Amino acid sequence: MTNADISKIVDTTDEWIVERTGIRARHIAAEDETTRTLAVQAARNALAHAGLTPADIDLVIVATSTPDSTFPATATQVQADLGIARGAAFDVQAVCSGFVYGLTIADNFIRGGQSQCALVIGSETFSRILDWNDRATCVLFGDGAGAVVVRAGKGGGTNADRGILGCHIHSDGRYCDKLYVDGGPSTTKTVGHLRMEGREVFKHAVINIAAVMDEAINKAGLTPMDIDWFVPHQANRRILEGTAKKLGVPEERIVMTLDRHGNTSAASIPLAFDAAVKDGRIKQGQLVLMEAMGGGFTWGAVLARF
Ligand code: ACO
Repeated sequence: MTNADISKIVDTTDEWIVERTGIRARHIAAEDETTRTLAVQAARNALAHAGLTPADIDLVIVATSTPDSTFPATATQVQADLGIARGAAFDVQAVCSGFVYGLTIADNFIRGGQSQCALVIGSETFSRILDWNDRATCVLFGDGAGAVVVRAGKGGGTNADRGILGCHIHSDGRYCDKLYVDGGPSTTKTVGHLRMEGREVFKHAVINIAAVMDEAINKAGLTPMDIDWFVPHQANRRILEGTAKKLGVPEERIVMTLDRHGNTSAASIPLAFDAAVKDGRIKQGQLVLMEAMGGGFTWGAVLARF
């Protein structure tokens, strides 16, 4: 759905959306597609890319705020569709930071010896919780899914290791009413619609994302110039440019796909990662910093060597 398409639904223009957000188009799930079906497709692609089969997986984590049902977890549905009957499967709800939270959980499960091979999936159908009469929000989001496989392996405990090198997650619930959905099973008994105080979110996003990037880079004893690629949550071009400027990160090292995907919440980092692997930018062995902020507020960063 292009900006021109959306301007037929609400009073907006391509110019306004591009100037304020950088978004030019987003994808909308077809009627027969759901968070579950998108997640399964992404999981199959990730497994094929890793040269693995569902039998290798002992942990399925789906980061989503738009599950197929209130319960069971979409992750168990994905497990069923992939034919996996062992290990554990659950959803993670940290809105746009969900993928970073999911990676952090998988890393801890693996480090603790509870899991050997995890599928971490971000999958969303935000089009179904948008208020399509609210031009301030409906232009921003899209649907999609992405997935990665995280596998146990022996390393030397240095930054030269492959895989996840550091995870940093945070939340501050005092801001839970700045970006939320105005419905739910225990309150309205409906799904509700996304509501947001855009300016407040913007302000906190730049501060929190820059702070957690700094934390991840410092903890690893690195400088921003040591990072090959920054793969941020794709919320808004101005947020990405603002954080890059704060940290002195060259813009050409930031993977941006929001122009064609919009904000796909928990799916945006794996979607952007996939795009940059496929077009040859991210190569094996390179250092990648993923970072996000979302409703809650939640935020976090994961440093990994691909
Ligand atoms: N088209 C045209 N005009 C619009 C639209 C639209 N789609 N949406 C709002 N406007 C109008 C408003 O009505 C307002 O008009 P007024 O001045 O006559 O009252 C004017 O534009 C300015 O509105 P603001 O909300 O103040 O615009 P702002 O410059 O703050 O931009 C935006 C809005 C793009 C939402 C910005 O606040 C933002 O990017 N915030 C971050 C939100 C975000 O990225 N959320 C994603 C989830 S959180 C995350 O992922 C980090």
